[in-house]
Amino acid sequence: MDFKTMREDFPTLRSSDAPAYLDNACVTLKPQSVIDSIHRYYTETPGCGGRSVHRYGTAVSKGVRDARKGLAAFINAESTNEIVFTRNATHSLNQIAHGMSWNKGDVVLTTDREHNSNLVPWLQLEQERGIDHRVVKSHENNTFDLEAFEESCKEAGSNLRMVSMSHVGNLDGVSIPIQEIAKIAHDFDALVSVDGAQSTPHMNVDVQELGIDFLSFSIHKMCGPSGMGGLWGRYDLLDDLRTIQSGGQTVTSSTYTEASWAQPPARFEGGLGNFSGMVATGAAVEYLTTLDMNAVHQHEIKLNKIMTKGVKDIAGLEIIGPEDATQRGGICSILLDELPTHDVALLLDEAAGVMVRSGQHCVHSWFADKGLPQGSLRASAYFYNTEEDVKRFVDTLTEIVHTLG
Ligand code: ALA
Repeated sequence: MDFKTMREDFPTLRSSDAPAYLDNACVTLKPQSVIDSIHRYYTETPGCGGRSVHRYGTAVSKGVRDARKGLAAFINAESTNEIVFTRNATHSLNQIAHGMSWNKGDVVLTTDREHNSNLVPWLQLEQERGIDHRVVKSHENNTFDLEAFEESCKEAGSNLRMVSMSHVGNLDGVSIPIQEIAKIAHDFDALVSVDGAQSTPHMNVDVQELGIDFLSFSIHKMCGPSGMGGLWGRYDLLDDLRTIQSGGQTVTSSTYTEASWAQPPARFEGGLGNFSGMVATGAAVEYLTTLDMNAVHQHEIKLNKIMTKGVKDIAGLEIIGPEDATQRGGICSILLDELPTHDVALLLDEAAGVMVRSGQHCVHSWFADKGLPQGSLRASAYFYNTEEDVKRFVDTLTEIVHTLG
């Protein structure tokens, strides 16, 4: 695929002094079609979907329906009714965690590389409901330790209720073997919730092939509008969840004394929705659907190999995770030793228009465990990034390190 010509679709990449935008693990850029879709909603049909039957309402309902359909196809969900619109992956994970009924002592397994969105909800349930949250340690190089996982499942035994893990770590780009994990977890009758925030935008994610129960993802990391996320769940499981936001849309009827719950997905979409966001999600998914997701993944690895080769031998710098970039997708997360990460990130932008993220990337737990309060400098690529972008990152970083070091 010729990703280079697609840069024309992104207004911020069109000019000759376009930045080397390498903060895609946080939020991606938006193509014109998504921006136009948002604009069209507000200028042409600024109504309420799902309720009002006038022309605006009908147009919005259709746009929302199409977006749901597009998302279902994108992740190969069995039905569009398995797709719930949320605010972000955090909201999706909270809907799962706080929508289930828990017994004291129920075990939930996560890894030692989770961002707060897939850690704090479980810590909260531990405090409030007495669940038993346990962390599966990774290998020294941050890759998944399947043996340790299996051992943790055995130790939990019949108390194991949930395995909730990030498919690809936002800390280091390392992916974990979801299919094998799901098989083992299911042998213990546990559910498998996958945080796909860093995988769904970057590779083929087929929920049926993975054999999982829930998938959470962020639309703003998929060329879509901010403030939008998605939750996929197996229909029977969604149907068993209580909503964490009840109100309009979540019931089929109510009296002064009781409410009859609506079926999924409406049950989880309480209150007036972010309609421009939902309709523009349709445009984002339509855009992504034109891409070969395997080619996207390979392109990111190719760029990461250039970054890895460029920084691995700079004295004092250390890449988090395995040295082999093929195991880290498009993410190159670097420990800078004594250098202040935020200052280096600022300098990269000031000096050469290179945009990366610095700090702990909401994975405080991992950095606290390693005693690395400064966090890392994280460059994360997407399909619209070029070799020139990552070379600019490497060259400027090298210069900064030599100047400050
Ligand atoms: N989890 C997002 C990131 O890694 C916000 O940047």
